Amino acid sequence: MCGIVGYAGARPCKDILFRGLRKLEYRGYDSAGISIIGDGRFELLHSVGNLDNLEAILDRMGDAGTLGIAHTRWATHGRPSTENAHPHTDCTGRFAIVLNGIVENYLRLRAALQGEGHSFTSETDAEVVAHLIERAYRGSLREAVVEAYRQMEGHFTFCAIAVEEPDVIVGIRKETPLVVGLSDGENFMASAIPAFLAETRSVVFPEDGDVVVVGRDAVEIFDLYGAPVDRPVQTIDWDDEAAEKAGYETFMLKEIHEQPVALADTLAERIGPDGRVVLDGLGLDAETVRALQRIVIVACGTSYHAGLVGKYALERWARLPVEVEVASEFRYRDPVIGPGCLCIAISQSGETADTLAAMRLARQAGAQVLALTNIVGSQATREADGVLFTRAGLEIGVAATKTFLTQVLATLLFALWLGERRGLMDGERVRGFTEELRRIPALLSDYLEDGAAGRVELVAARYAARRFFMVLGRNIGLPVALEGALKLKEISYVPTEAYAAGEMKHGPIALLEEGSPVLVVATDSRVYDKLISNVQEVKARGARIIAVASEGNEGLAEMADETFLVPRTDEMLAPLLSVVPLQLFAYYVAKARGEKVDQPRNLAKTVTVE
Ligand code: G6P
Repeated sequence: MCGIVGYAGARPCKDILFRGLRKLEYRGYDSAGISIIGDGRFELLHSVGNLDNLEAILDRMGDAGTLGIAHTRWATHGRPSTENAHPHTDCTGRFAIVLNGIVENYLRLRAALQGEGHSFTSETDAEVVAHLIERAYRGSLREAVVEAYRQMEGHFTFCAIAVEEPDVIVGIRKETPLVVGLSDGENFMASAIPAFLAETRSVVFPEDGDVVVVGRDAVEIFDLYGAPVDRPVQTIDWDDEAAEKAGYETFMLKEIHEQPVALADTLAERIGPDGRVVLDGLGLDAETVRALQRIVIVACGTSYHAGLVGKYALERWARLPVEVEVASEFRYRDPVIGPGCLCIAISQSGETADTLAAMRLARQAGAQVLALTNIVGSQATREADGVLFTRAGLEIGVAATKTFLTQVLATLLFALWLGERRGLMDGERVRGFTEELRRIPALLSDYLEDGAAGRVELVAARYAARRFFMVLGRNIGLPVALEGALKLKEISYVPTEAYAAGEMKHGPIALLEEGSPVLVVATDSRVYDKLISNVQEVKARGARIIAVASEGNEGLAEMADETFLVPRTDEMLAPLLSVVPLQLFAYYVAKARGEKVDQPRNLAKTVTVE
């Protein structure tokens, strides 16, 4: 949450910083600000609301500054306002800072600083950092940053600049992201790579407690005691165009249409010539696999729904008991976990605070930890015993789409891999599934190219004014129903209940009235007939049925009021197709209601706070 970008170079930097913020806007968009050093003084600009408002006043800032920091905020402490927008400055106006994360002991620090005569202008936790640096400064910004860092508790990243040292930005991280971009005669610092991807692909990932000094000609990294630290330079193969809308009206729509490619990329080289699943880097040797007794999946939001799909697949194919846990609950219970347990942490960003905490807890208890993430170098990859990467590319729309689909695919691949390693699936059975998996990207691509979006849009327009939706599913269709409902809540703000179809008559059916729209995930499955009985129960109460069905299922099409037909596939792989019309439905309901799809209210893509 919150996006930070810093630049040190020879070019006037306010526009460079602004362009960087644009690429980080998915991290927060309730206020923003830039601070640059030019002609020996700071220039500062703050605005409330999304970055359009900052852009509108950007020309108030001069062009002299060639070093600066910028921030786009997702409010935690203090409402969105100009005063609470970053960068924050100290009492003397010599230091400016931007922060992502939370300073948990800020009230204590603030009281102490106020007692010493410091005066505060905002309600944020971040402002204490500027005053701590002011108090600690003895001619070295690096040392003052370390001094401030030592007194702060919580998890955060901050970057600081000083009028007296106009050639450097100093940054430091603790359990939240900070990446450095290296270029010729100019260097960058940011919360995430997209901020500077248009300028460079050479990246360094500092570790917690690394003190990063970014200058125009060099980037130096020190430990907290001032000794130099060496971190490898990595080359990122993302394309900056990934951060553009490429002709689509929103990132979300673009990302829905990128799903076939994301699936194909995630599959690439993971199916061997013999049809077996090939997964490297999992950190699971034959002995660990043999000793496994159970699996716990921890995740939040959409990733949790991918975990639920994983449960069905792992239980069926690998025959291990699987629990799927919301990370924020898991971490504060007394979960029974230890050796013999595999904890799979699913997080597209690899940064979600609760998921990271759940991973740590599992690891401390002696469990093996596998991170399933989309982001190379993310915190989850550093703390796990092994990593399974999805290859969805950059996802900017706050409502996850292509990362979900690739998470589902990765969990299916892993379940096949484990089923075979545990001797429960022979090569032929695995090959049957992998051959079908290979077909899915093309099936989905044909489905999308064949006008699926337009068909869903027409139906969505008919229902967009409704004040309530219900989404039903059974078996592996249930996680799809939950995910479809989450999409509707996130971007259209229509209250939506998702339920196991068989459980619906134990309560939620009471919500239905004549004409209530009920979406049903009804692709072919072993529980199809049961599901149809549930649909009849709903229909008998006067509800309108919007069904997602397998192609060729004319019977259901006759029973339902609206039908979204998706290509036929094995029931275990069906979520890879059946969720797509639900993503599109949520999308077009939100559009018809005039909502800002890529920037839903109150949400942020990456939740680095509890
Ligand atoms: C936020 C996002 C969701 C995402 C969840 C978990 O709530 O808005 O789209 O599913 O975080 O994020 P993660 O990066 O851990 O998958």
